[in-house]
Amino acid sequence: MSPVEIPLGLKELLHGYTAEVLRLKPADLVEFAVEHFTRIQEGQRKEPNAKEGSVRTSRSRVSFRTHSDEGLKDEKDSVVESSTIKYKRRASVCAEAYDPDEEDDDSDPRVVHPKSDVQRRRLQDACSDILLFKTLDQEQLSEVLDAMFEVLVKAQEHIIDQGEDGDNFYVIERGVFDIYVQKDGGSVCVGKYDGKGSFGELALMYNTPRAATIIASQDAALWGLDRATFHRLIVKNNAKKRRLYEAFIECVPLLTSLEISERMKIVDILGARVFHDEERIITQGEYADCFYIVESGEVKIMIKSRTTAGQLDHAEVELARCVRGQYFGELALVTNQPRAASVYAVGVTKCLVIDIQAFERLLGPCKEIMKRNISQYEDQLVALFGSSVDLKQEQTPSVK
Ligand code: CMP
Ligand code: CMP
Repeated sequence: MSPVEIPLGLKELLHGYTAEVLRLKPADLVEFAVEHFTRIQEGQRKEPNAKEGSVRTSRSRVSFRTHSDEGLKDEKDSVVESSTIKYKRRASVCAEAYDPDEEDDDSDPRVVHPKSDVQRRRLQDACSDILLFKTLDQEQLSEVLDAMFEVLVKAQEHIIDQGEDGDNFYVIERGVFDIYVQKDGGSVCVGKYDGKGSFGELALMYNTPRAATIIASQDAALWGLDRATFHRLIVKNNAKKRRLYEAFIECVPLLTSLEISERMKIVDILGARVFHDEERIITQGEYADCFYIVESGEVKIMIKSRTTAGQLDHAEVELARCVRGQYFGELALVTNQPRAASVYAVGVTKCLVIDIQAFERLLGPCKEIMKRNISQYEDQLVALFGSSVDLKQEQTPSVK
């Protein structure tokens, strides 16, 4: 029998469609396939224009220029002003394969956007807590920082529009950005970034259309990273992350109810942080923006009770400890309340960290398990302090 010949591009097309089905879980797979492949076809038709940077239609869309090798006269030279400079949009990418294990294509030239010392410091500050950068080595990180370019945006500008192709990944330097997702025929605000964090990784990691619309709610500043550099450094690093964390994530009891593909998406976006002995990881009463799983070492959960006047007591009481495979920091994310307790490292401790947006997107199915555990927290608090507590009381997030 003659070998079956697989047409060029078939694997990639089916892979892109499957990734979208897993992500968006459409009710009607056939209708979704028609929409998905029509979008790809339209993207291919637009391609000649796209190369000239003239496809973008949304008037409020942020547009900017990148300049990799011009000399830097002063700081203004390396800032990319929105709407003044032509934006080069990438042609359709949805049908490219996503394979984190793929060998790196080193043929892409290294991109360098010159920066003043002040800019470099601001960039380093903005990137210091970016989870996707936390597993890069020093050389990779400095390559990423070299390639990043500053983007200034005006209030109400769309940085990303849902359904479009992915061009850049963005790190926030300042400003507030609302996240909108199409639901039931309308656009729903599902969250916001407040002065820190990053967005735009999904379309670049999985070669899928943008999964949300991101709009600046005030004048703001971002740092962009082009798609090619993101692929060469971050996606390549994901292959390493999968090898490192796959086995561990498989054994985290909380995550066993998730599909393998969902667990791998968690691995792709997580960051790793090492804390030294007695270092405070979470502070009671603070705003919460991430969730932790202990990879090695131990943490202790400490709480300050409230005095009759409602003030926090000075002394902390130990509530519990978490070791490898256990999680903490979920309560504030599930209830939209400030952190209920403080958490400290006991000895050198390594934790995997997931940000609030990814927590909302990927850990939805685990929330019921987490909610069940809240009752145990309440029992613990009653046993310690004697009065009844209601930790389950959910607050409405301010952006909804
Ligand atoms: P990307 O799909 O490339 O572009 C839109 C970005 O919004 C997405 O990557 C994420 O970084 C970010 N985002 C934040 N919250 C959500 C959400 N609930 N669903 C999808 N994307 C989100
Ligand atoms: P969070 O409130 O986000 O931050 C502190 C974390 O301590 C909390 O989430 C829980 O993960 C953890 N914790 C463990 N035991 C308790 C408890 N009895 N009460 C409150 N939080 C607890």
